[in-house]
Amino acid sequence: MAELIVALDVQTRAEAEAKVKLIGDAVGFYKIGLELFTAEGPDVVKAVKELGKKVFLDLKLHDIPRTVERAVLSGGKLGVDLMTIHSVGGKAMIRAAADAAATFGAGGPKILAVTVLTSLDKTDLEDVGIVGRTPAEQVAAMARFATSNGANGLVCSPKEVGELSRMLPGGTLFITPGVRPAGTAIGDQKRVATPADAVRDGSTHLVVGRPILAAPDPAAAARAIRTEMAAV
Ligand code: C5P
Repeated sequence: MAELIVALDVQTRAEAEAKVKLIGDAVGFYKIGLELFTAEGPDVVKAVKELGKKVFLDLKLHDIPRTVERAVLSGGKLGVDLMTIHSVGGKAMIRAAADAAATFGAGGPKILAVTVLTSLDKTDLEDVGIVGRTPAEQVAAMARFATSNGANGLVCSPKEVGELSRMLPGGTLFITPGVRPAGTAIGDQKRVATPADAVRDGSTHLVVGRPILAAPDPAAAARAIRTEMAAV
């Protein structure tokens, strides 16, 4: 069954802890990204783990293999459950991340690859030397490349997950942001899907931020999304 991950897009550890406590049993998984991690460091990961929650540490690592390996080892020691890397870091870097994660056994971090940032269009890709492929073709190529070199799954748009889940082996994880329950504000997201659509198309983990964090009752908003997911 697909899991709901709440994007803990706040600036301080105190705010993060308050949100996690407020949401309580309605959510068991939180995403900590660059903003919060840069502000508060590993202590915020420890705090969320101590509240009994799983952590998706979304730092989108892209460096030489040894550095990425060591960062994944550090994440594993913190008890992180999911970590992201950039697939364009290359085969050796992806394998180094996967091998480091594997040292923690079944409970260690799962490695997710970013294929093409959703902020990039065809011209942006050409600027960095990716010519002759549309963003969608590049997403598919990098998805195959990353998963065949040890990544456990992908971060992808809910609009891509249907095609990717048909193309890749069973057991691949698909983490999709850009999810909006019907009737909620889209904000700056451009291509959104409802929780039910994302799950139906193959998402294994949905990342939702503002529709939960900014709701008058975040726990109720999260429960409603989980109900919608479970009905699929
Ligand atoms: O508030 P919202 O539900 O839009 O939050 C989505 C989360 O997923 C944010 O943390 C955002 O940075 C992240 N994300 C995204 N789109 C991507 C990759 C990550 O919205 N392509």
